[in-house]
Amino acid sequence: MSAIRAAITAVQGYVPPDLLTNKDLEKIVDTTDEWIRSRTGIEERHILKGEGLGTSDMAVEAVNGLLKKRGITPGDIDLLICATVTPDHVFPATANIICDKVGAKNAFGFDLGAACSGFLFALATGSQFIETGKYKKVVVVGADKMSAIIDYTDRTTCVLFGDGAGAVLLEPTEDEVGIMDSILRSDGHGRHYLHQKAGGSVKPPTHESIDAREHYVFQDGQPVFKAAVVGMADVSAEIMEKNHLTADDVAYLVPHQANLRIIDATARRMGVGSEKVMINIHKYGNTTAATIPLCLWDWEDKLKKGDNLILAAFGGGFTWGAVFVKWAYGN
Ligand code: UT7
Repeated sequence: MSAIRAAITAVQGYVPPDLLTNKDLEKIVDTTDEWIRSRTGIEERHILKGEGLGTSDMAVEAVNGLLKKRGITPGDIDLLICATVTPDHVFPATANIICDKVGAKNAFGFDLGAACSGFLFALATGSQFIETGKYKKVVVVGADKMSAIIDYTDRTTCVLFGDGAGAVLLEPTEDEVGIMDSILRSDGHGRHYLHQKAGGSVKPPTHESIDAREHYVFQDGQPVFKAAVVGMADVSAEIMEKNHLTADDVAYLVPHQANLRIIDATARRMGVGSEKVMINIHKYGNTTAATIPLCLWDWEDKLKKGDNLILAAFGGGFTWGAVFVKWAYGN
């Protein structure tokens, strides 16, 4: 009997309708459309507006679309994992809230925090549940309402991030498709360069922490950039080598969308031409855990069964990794 693998059998994304363009940002902070485009590749991002709306609300849109596409009901879901750094609340887990809102009454759920690598960590985790043979339908969500933790007076971070959600359905297969391999890494030394200073147990919220704007994303961009270029490129090359894949064998690189220059460096290292690189950073910015499923969603129509995809990410933690996926449907 061949081994059970986890196949991605559907993908769905959601971005909220409101746009924040580079021109809009020019009016808020001392920046230019030219600087943002040339340094990052970003042109606009989607922002979730509306009283009482959070990460779960975007995730619900993605999950409902996913279920509809696959023709299954919420009750069919066994497990839902939500990768996010912007949970609705510190607790309970946003996964539980998503399950409640979509009516996934038979599922258990939990959140996974690995910042921009969160979707890959969650995908690898979800696939293990399928591989045991015990779970038949696992939903992996990457969703972030970054606008909730962005300081719109800080030009070094506010131009980078956007809001969005993406979800995939994992189901068992015995075919030569699915989640084939993963290499995941983390190094807590990197935490100083990209984090939210207050709001956790080390520094609970106080009037002082709010006045010091410590509940927003802090990033020292250059060290993160340098570590991201090396980390994402190395791990992508490593997973190719480990699985005896040449650049010709790779149908697409599916990179985390933080900076076009980091994506280019990764593609160069893999020897993969730009026509094989999924890029949508210009329209969504960095949506943290949502970037990779949003790419899969945008490219879904072009993907064919058996296509070799290398998913790669780098983010806060530091966390980074690559996942080798053989696409399971399409022709
Ligand atoms: O997804 C999670 C992981 N995160 C990442 O991968 C992000 C990694 N880092 C980066 O992508 C880049 O470091 C940034 C896009 C954040 C910044 O680009 P950079 O080329 O590293 O710029 P820099 O930080 O070296 O800043 C260059 C200059 C500075 O001015 P001076 O000191 O040279 O006068 C900044 O103050 O650009 C200035 N600057 C800006 N100017 C206009 C910084 N932000 C802006 C801005 N508009 N928005």
